[in-house]
Amino acid sequence: MGFFSKSFNPVTDLPDLSGKVILITGGNAGIGYSTVKHLARRGAKVYMAARNQTRAEEAIGKLKAEGLGPGNGDVIWLELDLKDPRNAKKAAEEFMKREKRLDVLIHNAAVLLEDYAITPDGVQEIVMVNVISHIVLTRTLQPLLDQTAAEPNSDVRIVVVASEGHRLVSGESHFRNLDDFNKEFKSSLSPSFARYCMSKLMNILYAFELQRHLTAAGSPITVIAIHPGTVNTFSHKPPLANFEFIVKPILSLFFVHPDEGAYNSAFAAASEEVAKQREKYKGMYLMPVGKLKEPTKVARDEGLAKELWDTVDRFLEEKGI
Ligand SMILES: NC(=O)c1ccc[n+]([C@@H]2O[C@H](COP(=O)([O-])OP(=O)(O)OC[C@H]3O[C@@H](n4cnc5c(N)ncnc54)[C@H](OP(=O)(O)O)[C@@H]3O)[C@@H](O)[C@H]2O)c1
Repeated sequence: MGFFSKSFNPVTDLPDLSGKVILITGGNAGIGYSTVKHLARRGAKVYMAARNQTRAEEAIGKLKAEGLGPGNGDVIWLELDLKDPRNAKKAAEEFMKREKRLDVLIHNAAVLLEDYAITPDGVQEIVMVNVISHIVLTRTLQPLLDQTAAEPNSDVRIVVVASEGHRLVSGESHFRNLDDFNKEFKSSLSPSFARYCMSKLMNILYAFELQRHLTAAGSPITVIAIHPGTVNTFSHKPPLANFEFIVKPILSLFFVHPDEGAYNSAFAAASEEVAKQREKYKGMYLMPVGKLKEPTKVARDEGLAKELWDTVDRFLEEKGI
């Protein structure tokens, strides 16, 4: 494969996805929206798990207006607000009532740069949305993922959209308890960015630990963590929205369009390269597009990943989720 934008084109490089069922969180905007488009255009039935019905329906209308050919897959809204892990459980249960298979699950939704906020469950919001609720979603869907994976010729994948931002986590990382989860990074230059980076480190640790658990249990499921690139998913939002006509051309020098920013997600979710060489991609971290790269030593720390996994377990048990 060559350079970022020339290396992979979902229109020509993804196989026919008719018959596949895919669930993506946060598919109503940004990279998630474009990922839905690439996969539905190849014929997949894609569930867009999003918190706001109006925004989801508008996004589905826009996708249809942009065109879902040639594959003409379906796009269906699934209600999911990741601020509360109970919603993740409920959404997964609702999904399992509607579908008999799940080929690909994509953890895409994220809170990016928000003020520090603690949810009623005592965990900071960015960790709840970006990490814990996604874990609940996946665990609840596990029986359906396993059932699909047991079918002949299946190729079940879980894609975790992480970030190169994980490299910027400063200080020692621990995930022993909720205090560790709720770190504010007050002395950091940008505390909100530091908290985001920590959540993305947690995404990679979790993805690798999940792969270890699945492999140990004899499951063929592939878990891949990815970095989507540096993607302009913000120039249309305040405070830049009013100046988008000036800002966007400048940003395009440094940031790619979300359609291109979704290539790595689409590659991890559905490419034939991964199908042909599953062992090569299992529990790996990919840069755009489809390039294996080592995350930091901390992100590969199995002890830290287990610590994170166990703390989430204890938290969910205490909450009865
Ligand atoms: N953009 C980049 O350069 C970049 C770089 C590295 C990694 N990433 C990763 O790529 C992924 C997508 O980012 P993006 O840039 O596309 O962000 P975005 O445009 O802000 O989209 C985020 C998505 O997450 C959803 N979301 C946020 N909070 C939610 C909640 N409580 N419940 C359900 N959905 C929620 C949003 O829904 P609403 O519309 O309802 O808010 C939206 O659909 C993230 O995991 C991010 O960390 C992005």
